[in-house]
Amino acid sequence: MRIAVFSAKPYDQTFLARSNAARHHELSFFDARLTADTAPLAKGFDGVCAFVNDCLDAAVLQQLHDNGTTLVALRSAGFNHVDLATAERLGITVARVPAYSPHAVAEHAVALVLSLNRMTYRAYNRVREGNFALDGLLGFDLHGKTVGVIGTGQIGLIFANIMHGFGCRVVASDPFPNPNAEPFVEYVPLESLYAQADIISLHCPLTPDTDHLINADAIAQMKQGVMLINTGRGRVVDTPAVIAGLKSGKIGRLGLDVYEEEEQLFFEDLSHGVIDDDQFMRLTTFHNVLITGHQAFFTAEALTNIAETTLANIDAFESGSGTLHRVVYDKRT
Ligand code: NAI
Repeated sequence: MRIAVFSAKPYDQTFLARSNAARHHELSFFDARLTADTAPLAKGFDGVCAFVNDCLDAAVLQQLHDNGTTLVALRSAGFNHVDLATAERLGITVARVPAYSPHAVAEHAVALVLSLNRMTYRAYNRVREGNFALDGLLGFDLHGKTVGVIGTGQIGLIFANIMHGFGCRVVASDPFPNPNAEPFVEYVPLESLYAQADIISLHCPLTPDTDHLINADAIAQMKQGVMLINTGRGRVVDTPAVIAGLKSGKIGRLGLDVYEEEEQLFFEDLSHGVIDDDQFMRLTTFHNVLITGHQAFFTAEALTNIAETTLANIDAFESGSGTLHRVVYDKRT
């Protein structure tokens, strides 16, 4: 098949080309993000391959359809950025990579916890400048602390297991408790999780129910000085509410791998320009905030699996056999 690959960074090209070597689909790589302005690039292609910050709203899907696209092969697990109702109406099949490395994301969430706790990012800069003072670097033992996990699917469960390994108590909230959860994962109502947890980590998808789940009301119920980690989706967190929580000290440490307006920022080198997102820049001024630019998935294993499953989806769509990880429109959401 002829596939237009959007948001194709050099690493995407390397891993996709490697997986395609034995297959011979025609892949054309576009560095551009898929938007209404760039959608014409896909003219004449059978399918588009897109990532998390590509826009697949009704207008873009209509353009893709008009230009002959019948398949959207997502390189992500999340599909909250696709207007599935429109895709279904237009007869466009949407496929995704349901799991590529839940370990990669869970381990990155743990990296944020450890860095924020011991402020290793501050220590790194201090030591390079000959400043060996310890003031401001005070951490706490993870052992014995309570960790709240919101969303205990593949990633949340691995995160829970790792934190249990540190000697933490794990409380969790999920409308569908995971039957594979170890007995040490204690499911509690969300309010109870907020009230007990010293560290809260978000591993739920973005849905109408989780949109701004972490708002002023939720933060008010949390422990003073709580550590909040978000490697899920940016919009699960209401950024102004979190900034207010940081200013008041209610939130003691914040680790973000995702941000609600990240489409305009992440995956690009913007260091030569002016970043005009005042809310994001405010976040970067706090010494107790650590932000990474949606890199939790970014391991060699994950990129290999993403490329392999994406191309297997394209194979299955083309041949009508094999496993197609299709995203089905659910009218209830
Ligand atoms: P999963 O589908 O295995 O698990 C999600 C869990 O969240 C499910 O158990 C579900 O019941 C639960 N959930 C749904 N609504 C909830 C609610 N209102 N409250 C609490 N729990 C709720 O998904 P997986 O693979 O564990 O991924 C989780 C999320 O992580 C993805 O949806 C995606 O947004 C994010 N992600 C982030 C990446 C990154 O690089 N930062 C990479 C991959 C995924």
